[in-house]
Amino acid sequence: MSDQLPEGQQPQDAEKLQEVAREQDAKKIAPKRVLFVCLGNICRSPAAEGVFADYVRRCGVEDRVLIDSAGTAGYHIGKRADPRMSAAAARRGIELTSEARLLSSRDLSHFDLIVVMDRDNYRNTLALAHGAPTGHVRMLSEFLDLSEGWPQEVPDPYYGGEEGFEFVLNMLQAAMPRLTGELLGKSTNRWGQSSS
Ligand code: 4NP
Repeated sequence: MSDQLPEGQQPQDAEKLQEVAREQDAKKIAPKRVLFVCLGNICRSPAAEGVFADYVRRCGVEDRVLIDSAGTAGYHIGKRADPRMSAAAARRGIELTSEARLLSSRDLSHFDLIVVMDRDNYRNTLALAHGAPTGHVRMLSEFLDLSEGWPQEVPDPYYGGEEGFEFVLNMLQAAMPRLTGELLGKSTNRWGQSSS
């Protein structure tokens, strides 16, 4: 179920994405702002940030996105990613560089797309919207083919073994083609207001 490619190899959709990126550049559409959210912002969402950054770089469309991550709880503010997650990502050639921060109400209006890992994240993120539109808050699993056996939530690997970190990375990598295609395919920046 993993979307692992040999390092340096371009993903299948790269050329199509580059064409869309050129069109959006020509129309002066601003880069899309994407935020990944989990509970602690030290395992799943920093990994999602790193996996997405790696994917768009390999596709050659990294200039079209701005990427960040945040947590719904503040236990680990200021910390780098959990060393177990950093090590698992590094084995795939992906460096995790973010520092944990708390999700804020401002994030809801700042980002074009907010990708949450599980239902608790979803509920806690929506609670910060205070009635503002939330169509741009999406579960990571919405970008996966669940008929392939993926779960609806990205499981929290924090209290488990090494295989949990590998599974999270597999799941994140598998979601990247659809997530990136949908994001860059939007003709407007705000999710839920798009025409394409
Ligand atoms: P994350 O994992 O939400 O994927 O960053 C967790 C990290 C820390 C804790 C729980 C989950 N914690 O309880 O400290």
